[in-house]
Amino acid sequence: MGSVIISPSILSADFANLERDIKKVEDGGADWLHIDVMDGHFVPNITIGVPVTASIKKIARLPLDVHLMIENPEKYVEPFAKAGADILTFHYEAVEESKIKAVIDKIKSFGIKAGLSIKPGTSPERITEFLPYLDMVLVMTVEPGFGGQSFMENCAQKLPVIRANAPENLILQVDGGINDKTGRVCTKLGANSLVAGNYIYKSPDIKSAILSLR
Ligand code: DX5
Ligand code: ZN
Repeated sequence: MGSVIISPSILSADFANLERDIKKVEDGGADWLHIDVMDGHFVPNITIGVPVTASIKKIARLPLDVHLMIENPEKYVEPFAKAGADILTFHYEAVEESKIKAVIDKIKSFGIKAGLSIKPGTSPERITEFLPYLDMVLVMTVEPGFGGQSFMENCAQKLPVIRANAPENLILQVDGGINDKTGRVCTKLGANSLVAGNYIYKSPDIKSAILSLR
């Protein structure tokens, strides 16, 4: 497997100093910026929305990897695409199965990458039929909603199942409780993109933390 895409989650940044904290991970060698969008319905927490994403776009050098943890994601594809998302990921559990392909197509119609995410309780076989249309699959390794939770090892076992059925260029991302050790577990099982919030932002040396994930 080639290089690993490191996507720091700005959920662990200081929101009163977001530009400063984004520069820290950009200067530290990150590849993407992971933006966690939560609506208080699909998950209990409320975080970042469209206006903040658009403001981040103005100052960010790196691609915006936007993770929608919201109900009715189809309604927000256009606003987030226009706000500057480069990769837009929605949840399998948030959309009726018969409508998932249409959401993927809608994302791609804006010329950006489409991702589909599964929660810990969702089996990987459920998304097999969508793999040919996707740029990325995001396997959650915690229950979505909060940063700083512990890695669920059993979720990582989904990675080889997805890898075995996926086109070669599919990006396979993991998110939740990722550090140098759990990240290695995931890349060995087929992940090639790591999201990390707490591990990167709570580290005294952000550059070394990012390097250790690589
Ligand atoms: C959780 C979010 C994650 C979170 C990861 O619902 O999707 O992106 O920020 O945070 P850590 O790496 O601290 O588990
Ligand atoms: Zn996330």
